Amino acid sequence: MKRVDPVQARNLLLSGEVVAIPTETVYGLGGWIYSEEGLKKIFSTKERPFFDPLIVHIDSIEKARMLTSEWTAIHDVLARHCWPGPLTLIAKKNDKVSSLITSGLDSVGLRCPNHELTLNLLSTIDGGVAAPSANKFGKTSPTSSEHVEQEFGDAVAILDGGSSQIGIESTVVGVKDGQVEIFRPGFYTAKMLKEILSKNGIEATVAYAESPVAPGQLKHHYMPKIPLVIVPENFVWESHQSEIKTKLGASFSRPVIWKQPLTPDIASRELYQKMREFDQQGFDIILAERSGHHFSEEWLGIWNRLEKAKSLAL
Ligand code: TXA
Ligand code: MG
Repeated sequence: MKRVDPVQARNLLLSGEVVAIPTETVYGLGGWIYSEEGLKKIFSTKERPFFDPLIVHIDSIEKARMLTSEWTAIHDVLARHCWPGPLTLIAKKNDKVSSLITSGLDSVGLRCPNHELTLNLLSTIDGGVAAPSANKFGKTSPTSSEHVEQEFGDAVAILDGGSSQIGIESTVVGVKDGQVEIFRPGFYTAKMLKEILSKNGIEATVAYAESPVAPGQLKHHYMPKIPLVIVPENFVWESHQSEIKTKLGASFSRPVIWKQPLTPDIASRELYQKMREFDQQGFDIILAERSGHHFSEEWLGIWNRLEKAKSLAL
């Protein structure tokens, strides 16, 4: 267990090492934005392809502005209302931002995370810390330091900040021609963002992008070690066992039916923890039940993750 404090974390980052950092959404695998070595280490440690851009974490709007060439009124209002918090804003980058971070795009994703330890760390660092979720590429995201350890063992130093309170990744938004587009759903819904803008005198359309539109938004992602099948309400295993066997090409004997909690805030906090737990408890297939109340907007982020984590939907 390589637990470090914020001062050690800072020194490691500045010397070109990666450090796992806590945030309110999920743990990130951080590298200093001005260290090419650190940035490259993020990709090699995660086994992540270079076409998937990274989010830069900063502790203030001023730092976000220092890394961008265009910061619109929409960016400003959303940042002032939602930061620190689970919202990533995409803006035109300037030449301080390495193309390693943006996969060659001319824009950069910026986020000020709502976690005291990480905000302390960021306040001592010039520029910011690029950090994707601290998991092997395509796998389930970590919401505790134990999860990070399960992913990387002793290879990665961890700033331990307890369990992530939101539990799923930030809402990612872009701004184009005065309109807001949501590339990845999360805690902040289109309705919430529209209301925030409207209260500040900006009437903008806020719409969900057709997926996959952002690079890195691949069809399969967040996958647990055992297959996850999305099933309708009141599902009976015995009636579908042979169909699942045929479709997945394997047989299963220890299914677990997974009903989501009643509220989306609890569901998102528990989501990745549960995905890991089922496997450790010896189940060999997860049957995630989707019921009527899951179709409202606050559930979009959760079902976006489950849809990508699934092997099959019935
Ligand atoms: O909550 C979060 O956002 C967490 C924590 C650690 O902050 N981070 C996270 O990073 O989820 P990651 O790498 O797993 O997802 C970042 C995604 C990319 O896959 C991409 O879809 C989008 O953000 N993204 C980043 N920069 C972008 C850009 N310039 N244009 C479009 N999409 C971008
Ligand atoms: Mg990720």
